[in-house]
Amino acid sequence: MTLSLYTAACTVAALLFILSLAGLSKHVSAKHGNYAGIAGMTLALVATLARITDVDRLGGVAALVLAIAIGAVIGIWRARKVEMTGMPELIAMLHSFVGAAAVLVGFGSHLSTSAEQGAHSGLPPAGLMIHEGEVAVGVFIGAVTLTGSIVAFLKLSGRMSSAPLALPAHNLINLAALAAFVVLTVWFVTQPSVWVLLLITGLALALGAHLVASIGGGDMPVVISMLNSYSGWAAAAAGFMLGNDLLIITGALVGSSGAYLSWLMCRAMNRSFISVIAGGFGSDGRTVGEVRDYGEHREVTAEGVADLLRAATSVVITPGYGMAVAQAQYPVAQLTSRLRERGVDVRFGIHPVAGRLPGHMNVLLAEAKVPYDIVLELDEVNDDFATTDVVLVIGANDTVNPAATDEPGSPIAGMPVLQVWNAKDVVVFKRSMATGYAGVQNPLFFKDNTQMLFGDAKERVGDILAAL
Ligand code: TAP
Repeated sequence: MTLSLYTAACTVAALLFILSLAGLSKHVSAKHGNYAGIAGMTLALVATLARITDVDRLGGVAALVLAIAIGAVIGIWRARKVEMTGMPELIAMLHSFVGAAAVLVGFGSHLSTSAEQGAHSGLPPAGLMIHEGEVAVGVFIGAVTLTGSIVAFLKLSGRMSSAPLALPAHNLINLAALAAFVVLTVWFVTQPSVWVLLLITGLALALGAHLVASIGGGDMPVVISMLNSYSGWAAAAAGFMLGNDLLIITGALVGSSGAYLSWLMCRAMNRSFISVIAGGFGSDGRTVGEVRDYGEHREVTAEGVADLLRAATSVVITPGYGMAVAQAQYPVAQLTSRLRERGVDVRFGIHPVAGRLPGHMNVLLAEAKVPYDIVLELDEVNDDFATTDVVLVIGANDTVNPAATDEPGSPIAGMPVLQVWNAKDVVVFKRSMATGYAGVQNPLFFKDNTQMLFGDAKERVGDILAAL
């Protein structure tokens, strides 16, 4: 492939990536956004392979094609198999691969450049110093992304506690690691050596794990989008090391859109952007898991809930992660249409971080054909609870926790929540009195107007449908 054809293909691929992001920003155009992304990536891969004309490197091309084929088979298998509730873990795992790739590219790039340059005395030439600087930064971002994503994977899949690590002086540890990185980079750029690069890698691996381990469960949504952003910058860094413009553009697109999403999520959750990217910087180490005596909770049966619904004229349903686990969206949609047929005003209140990934609840409800126009965001519904007869909290916990507004010392203090307790009656569907993902006890369950309906959400909604 000629250089001009290759440049044209890269330009078209970059445009397709931009179209993809634009498409993915809205429900209705998301599918087309995905297609544009797939087309862009296919074009980029084909153009990159076709550009290799050197006969000596054709063996390498065959190995690359084989690697792509194996990766594609594993990727398709995993993507088809994954449950909706397992998506965040899968995404975290995929981010770790981007980080690992950037580290490997960095080492490969350093080793091949030093082999070409041979031994030299004194300062290396300016071009080489710039290149080694790119290597140091790329390896650093890649290694932070690698271990940060692995810790995120472990936390999201429940293999590691979602509570923040909160080492003493954890902010100082992060600052010291950054200072050490600057010193090591200067050393590496002026006297390139694989040993210094290994030190940078070790430091960044430890920093990535520490940054994410220090963040509490309630702030994990921002961490996922932040790691998405880091993986983009890691790819951009790899692009600089390889001199590949398309990789730089793609990485920068992912990096900046991930950073923007993180900023939006921080705003939605009333969190400081700096505090989250710096691994809980500024948090005062309040602990999760503290048990307080809020009094006795009340239980209700499915028949009791059916009676409440018969008498209601307005109902708001606030779904959460438990609805996704139980796959209760289909009976919930049935219950919604049954109540609407009876003239009840039914709406949904969706918290921006309900479930385990942005838009999780919206996707499940759309899947079950709940009309879009009755699915409202937190700001659109929060003032209406005071005039609502019954709120059905289906598998939600942290997103309806009044401790966020009433208890300044709570780890989720300041996070906006659905103020369901203002309604006349609240029914909470869950299997036990266990805490939600943030590990914080929920005083809602003990309020006078709250009743608990224990059991699997899908079964309990089915029971209510039968009783109605
Ligand atoms: P959570 O606070 O996670 O609570 C879910 C509740 O569902 C649990 O208390 C659980 O109680 C219940 N549950 C589980 N399986 C159930 C089943 N089969 N039937 C009935 N109930 C079931 O949910 P939420 O309110 O959606 O809040 C989301 C949390 O995840 C927030 O802390 C958020 O920050 C975090 N997070 C969100 C994201 C994104 S981007 N959305 C990403 C990572 C983390 P039992 O065990 O007692 O049944």
